[in-house]
Amino acid sequence: MSNNLLKGKKGIIFGALDEKSIAWKTALKCVEAGAQIVLTNAPVALRMGEINKLAEQCGNAPVIGADVTNMDDLKNLFEKSMEHLGGKIDFVLHSIGMSLNVRKGKHYTEMNYEWNQKTLDISAMSLHKVLRTAWDMDALSEGASVVALTYIAAQRVFPDYNEMADAKSLLESVTRMFGYYYGVKKKVRVNTISQSPTRTTAGSGVKGFDGFINYAEKMSPLGNASADDCANYCVVMFSDLTRMVTMQNLFHDGGFSFTGVTQAVIEQMEK
Ligand SMILES: NC(=O)c1ccc[n+]([C@@H]2O[C@H](COP(=O)([O-])OP(=O)(O)OC[C@H]3O[C@@H](n4cnc5c(N)ncnc54)[C@H](O)[C@@H]3O)[C@@H](O)[C@H]2O)c1
Repeated sequence: MSNNLLKGKKGIIFGALDEKSIAWKTALKCVEAGAQIVLTNAPVALRMGEINKLAEQCGNAPVIGADVTNMDDLKNLFEKSMEHLGGKIDFVLHSIGMSLNVRKGKHYTEMNYEWNQKTLDISAMSLHKVLRTAWDMDALSEGASVVALTYIAAQRVFPDYNEMADAKSLLESVTRMFGYYYGVKKKVRVNTISQSPTRTTAGSGVKGFDGFINYAEKMSPLGNASADDCANYCVVMFSDLTRMVTMQNLFHDGGFSFTGVTQAVIEQMEK
């Protein structure tokens, strides 16, 4: 059901890989709420072709390839997006994560540092690159909203999350730092949403994911937040209803982050 919360707004959505992706659901909800969007992903992800189905469902939204670590790609993306949408960008979703050490099964204590550099670049510094590109081109409108997705492993230890914990800490720091400068300059808001474990391609790559997601479900008074719920939260964050929220890490996890223990977990332990 449309609520017109984003009527007249123009956005760029990074990271829709397939229909499980948080970015995929968010793209659909943004369009439903009245926004016009551009979809983008790494050229290698575009070759899968799935995103074209999403583009169709989003009123033939343009798909523009960009490796988020490449400044030329990002410049081209913002240029073409503004051209297509006919003006500056009102919201950006950064829904990107990739860990080479996780993918290649390297333990945290035996990290390959070259891979680690790449992980930090793709998963964290890329937010700086996106914001820097927009800043240099003055591509964001006054009061625009930028949201990046993160996970609570930035604050607490979840061993199998590996180097992504460090990447998310850096991502959240870039959010605060750039959020400060962009707030002062143009009232642009920059926030992270810290999402429950969710069955997506990136999520399922984490070792022991089934145990992880079940534990979180039992440890959250409301249960785990779904990708659809996350998409709704993104819409609210892109809307004018949250004009004064910036530099925050916003937990979207059914209460997991502030729960010490639940009856369900106690019962499990007593078995
Ligand atoms: N799934 C979870 O459990 C969970 C929980 C909390 C936070 N998150 C975060 O949500 C975000 C989205 O992940 P998802 O779970 O929807 O998984 P996903 O695999 O669907 O999305 C990850 C996206 O990152 C893109 N990407 C990777 N390298 C890139 C590059 N160089 N340039 C451009 N794009 C690139 C991929 O193509 C993919 O579309 C990530 O930041 C992830 O860490 C996920």
